[in-house]
Amino acid sequence: MDLRYQTGFGAHFATEVVAGALPVGQNSPQHVPFGLYAEQLSGTAFTAPRHENRRSWLYRLRPSAGHGPYRPYNQPRLTSAFDGPVTPNRLRWSPIEIPAEPTDFVDGLVTLAGNGDVATQAGMGVHLYLANASMKDRVFYDADGELLIVPQQGVLTLVTEMGRLKAGPGHIAVIPRGVRFRVEVEGPSRGYVCENFGAALRLPELGPIGSNGLANPRDFETPVAAFEDVDAPTQVIQKFQGKLWSAQWDHSPLDVVAWHGNLAPYRYDLARFNTINTVSYDHPDPSIFTVLTSPSDTPGTANVDFVIFPPRWMVAEHTFRPPWFHRNVMSEFMGLVHGAYDAKEGGFAPGGASLHNCMSDHGPDVASHRKATDAELGPHKIDNTLAFMFESRWVIAPTKFALEHRALQADYDACWDGFPKARLP
Ligand SMILES: [Fe+2]
Repeated sequence: MDLRYQTGFGAHFATEVVAGALPVGQNSPQHVPFGLYAEQLSGTAFTAPRHENRRSWLYRLRPSAGHGPYRPYNQPRLTSAFDGPVTPNRLRWSPIEIPAEPTDFVDGLVTLAGNGDVATQAGMGVHLYLANASMKDRVFYDADGELLIVPQQGVLTLVTEMGRLKAGPGHIAVIPRGVRFRVEVEGPSRGYVCENFGAALRLPELGPIGSNGLANPRDFETPVAAFEDVDAPTQVIQKFQGKLWSAQWDHSPLDVVAWHGNLAPYRYDLARFNTINTVSYDHPDPSIFTVLTSPSDTPGTANVDFVIFPPRWMVAEHTFRPPWFHRNVMSEFMGLVHGAYDAKEGGFAPGGASLHNCMSDHGPDVASHRKATDAELGPHKIDNTLAFMFESRWVIAPTKFALEHRALQADYDACWDGFPKARLP
């Protein structure tokens, strides 16, 4: 299995499995080498500004167009109908168990929440995958959005049209809208998925930070071309307008022998994140931890930001160091890959989740607040932890599945009970 990578964020890649497969000097020559079929995959409108334009040219054994009709595929747990009543309440879930019966990535996707609208390409779906079996004789693609995959347990091999990549806990992987892939697992696997209906994720602007820092472009890895030549029935499942559809192909669509362009899957090792924070007092807003952002049409107000809370040194003087009490116009969905989050002493477990919607009151629990207030301040390393947030300008609505699941904690509000009243002189 070819697991080589090319690096750079949004770079223009060129890769071929067979020497000479990639046409030189033009995209669609009259005679493509070896009789391969040229196909453009457009991830942005043709006329998107040059710096945002994303497209790749794929050279394949057979054209993708050669297949029959799609028919509805029944997997109702994956949805874009965020049908639980929207609630201003703070919500937290314990980890949802990985099923015991054989379940692959597609059948193991469950939707917890979401916002916006697939039809107008704004907002996101928030899902978990709970899988224990590799996809066999089938591939998946998402016409509704780009998939940001955050593994929490188990290593995934993503066998995509454009090459193969591996991502386990500590990595993220991003599959562009429309790119077909199969997921292979090595055992029970759980993770989070942000299905981004909006503009493609990109690196945030750095402003006065300068030309280095946060996630650096050179650390993003995109697979080199790899293909399979399989003439056997393959089920192709797509998500389209919130529902799954299935078609039978007579071959594997993962047959791209060469490709070039700047639209491609990638992975990123979150340990490479160059974490920036205060060296004097207080701490900056958590936007300082933004890895990737999907902008909306309002500058600085994201469709979704992907933000991490990685291991880091705390050195702020005379400062309350954990996340402060907060109310936010933006809505915050959080997950935990491993370890403990520094605003919660307990209750927020790896594989679990929390949701703090627009203007809901949140912050440290009583125990974390007391500990941070009593702490003798010196340089302190927060280690062995990786929490993250999908933060969006649109209110995040839970699904009925999430609201009715026994993993929803009944007593979350109680973690903010018992704060002693301030004493005025
Ligand atoms: Fe917050």
